[in-house]
Amino acid sequence: MKTTTFFRSKSPGTGAVPPANTTLDNEDFQFLRELIYERSRINLGPDKRVLITSRLAKRLRELRLDGYAEYCALLRSPAGEKELTFLIDRISTNHTHFFRELKHFEFLEHKFLPAWRANHATRSEALRVWSAASSTGEEPYTIAIHLAEHLAAAEEGAWQIEATDISTRVLALARHGVYPEEKLTGVSAEQVRRHFQKGVGDRAGEFRVKAGLRERVRFQHLNLLQPPYPFKQPFHVIFCRNVMIYFDRPTQEALVASLTDWLVPGGHLLVGHSESLGNIKHGLKLVQPAVYLKPPA
Ligand SMILES: C[S@@+](CC[C@H](N)C(=O)[O-])C[C@H]1O[C@@H](n2cnc3c(N)ncnc32)[C@H](O)[C@@H]1O
Repeated sequence: MKTTTFFRSKSPGTGAVPPANTTLDNEDFQFLRELIYERSRINLGPDKRVLITSRLAKRLRELRLDGYAEYCALLRSPAGEKELTFLIDRISTNHTHFFRELKHFEFLEHKFLPAWRANHATRSEALRVWSAASSTGEEPYTIAIHLAEHLAAAEEGAWQIEATDISTRVLALARHGVYPEEKLTGVSAEQVRRHFQKGVGDRAGEFRVKAGLRERVRFQHLNLLQPPYPFKQPFHVIFCRNVMIYFDRPTQEALVASLTDWLVPGGHLLVGHSESLGNIKHGLKLVQPAVYLKPPA
């Protein structure tokens, strides 16, 4: 199969800006930690001063502020609400990659989809999957590639993926669906040919998810900690991976309860393999590591 190509010019850079004073004193550090926790439940320990300064130094330069005292004053001002979105964007870790935690995709292929196909013979329902912290899109596009390859042709029309994240910056990148070649590790050469367009000219070395697959994924902004969620129908599978790790136990418990409400009975919740639900109360059944079932009604 031939890899198709796409043409697009890169956006212009923002230009040079003067460096900011990067000293963060105790009072401002405490203010930022409390504000971040209050609004995102990301709990930054007292050892995270360097992390905050390294993540925010560029933002201070962009705003041409002199230091963190000015930045904290901005956050306290009426314009602070808008800046808070940028702050949480910069602080949250967006690391992700294609086919991350392969065991989940093996579970879908060998356990979930065979059962789905068997049931699907008697009910013509679309398969609904939610990628609940989708970051720059690698997770929902991996799910899309996987479903495109493992659902029989007759069922191809019958699946849809919702993808959400708190960060508007990563959502914009995800919607665009363009990745440098080095981000495609884990995607086979055949999958690249089948599902990506190759960039040419000044986009050489980049690959864009093909339109047919991009159309299967609907990206929208959503803070997992602010239910009610805006969906019309519950999901058969929810991926909520590598985000709960930031939250304290009561927050995790409330989040898992909200996610459970959005699963059909018999649906599955997939969490990151380092995010056991062992320490919290929930109504799900462990099926295998990091895979939970909402018991059928
Ligand atoms: C480490 S990435 C995980 C991406 C993907 N799920 C994976 O496992 O590869 C965590 C993502 O969670 C998002 N996030 C953090 N807090 C969130 C919240 N309260 N609501 C929704 N998304 C959130 C971050 O913006 C980030 O993109």
